[in-house]
Amino acid sequence: MSTSRHIIRGSTQVVGLIGWPVEHSVSPPMHNAAFAELGLDWCYVPLPVHPDRVPEALLGAVALGLRGFNATVPHKEALVPLVDTLTDAARAIGAVNTVLLKDGKAVGHNTDAGGFLRALNDAGFDPQGCSALVLGAGGAARAVVYALATSHARVTILNRTPTKAIALAAEFSPVSPRARLQGGPLDESPIQQASLGVNLVVNTTPLGMWTRSSRIADAEHDEISPWPETVPFPREALLMDLIYNPRETPLMRQALQAGARACDGLSMLVHQGAEAFTLWTGQDAPVDVMMAACVAILGGE
Ligand code: ATR
Repeated sequence: MSTSRHIIRGSTQVVGLIGWPVEHSVSPPMHNAAFAELGLDWCYVPLPVHPDRVPEALLGAVALGLRGFNATVPHKEALVPLVDTLTDAARAIGAVNTVLLKDGKAVGHNTDAGGFLRALNDAGFDPQGCSALVLGAGGAARAVVYALATSHARVTILNRTPTKAIALAAEFSPVSPRARLQGGPLDESPIQQASLGVNLVVNTTPLGMWTRSSRIADAEHDEISPWPETVPFPREALLMDLIYNPRETPLMRQALQAGARACDGLSMLVHQGAEAFTLWTGQDAPVDVMMAACVAILGGE
């Protein structure tokens, strides 16, 4: 890794992260480590934007000459009608997590779906035609289900509010005529049924997330798992828990104890960032350096 100190000067290109809040994000150190590694005169800054002020933030970013920015909760959906152009993925998912600013125009991308697929690839998992179980049907699930539908997977989405899971399955079914999507309740019996012969389980709920560094107010979230103790975790499946704080969740422990493989969400986080980095700079991202910068903050290996 480069150790020389980067001096911000008049020529420095600026990108950043809009969100509310943004102070716990690992994206600034992750991207700044990548710029340093490649010796690029760029910097990435946190930009707290109140939910009422997203349109002004976009205009401001253009006016200030930013090269682009990432968006996190709760701004990803708000950007969809505001940008000049949307990629197919951003339009289908209904969320923009990366904006590329060029010649006064804003292009809205979604790199979460691609980041998820690259994370699966890192884990040695080929999603083509796989059988997947997705827990949760919120914003994170939309990117995951879209990515799996483009991989022609069979996907069962189970959610505390089953109508949302059923609606999500119906919405993404047209993505691929070869994909098979269905939704249902996040209850013991459907989990048991869906776990038979499943290759991949993805947790998109916040259950297991550390509460002190998240927006989740429920103090019990970091102690609980969406997977009932009464249902054996399918040992042939790969678990991808999108949570990366902590690096090992109760659900990951259940999977590992059952003999299954388990990954946290850090790889997806890094790969969505890497795709954004390449969109802005036109250069391949130093993924290992970005991962190391995150691990230095979050712990683990
Ligand atoms: P994100 O946009 O980050 O995915 P979200 O939209 O709040 O976050 O979605 C979180 C998902 O986790 C939702 O599917 C939510 O279920 P509901 O649709 O029923 O709200 C699910 N979730 C959140 N807290 C949960 C809990 N305590 N038990 C089960 N599911 C939960």
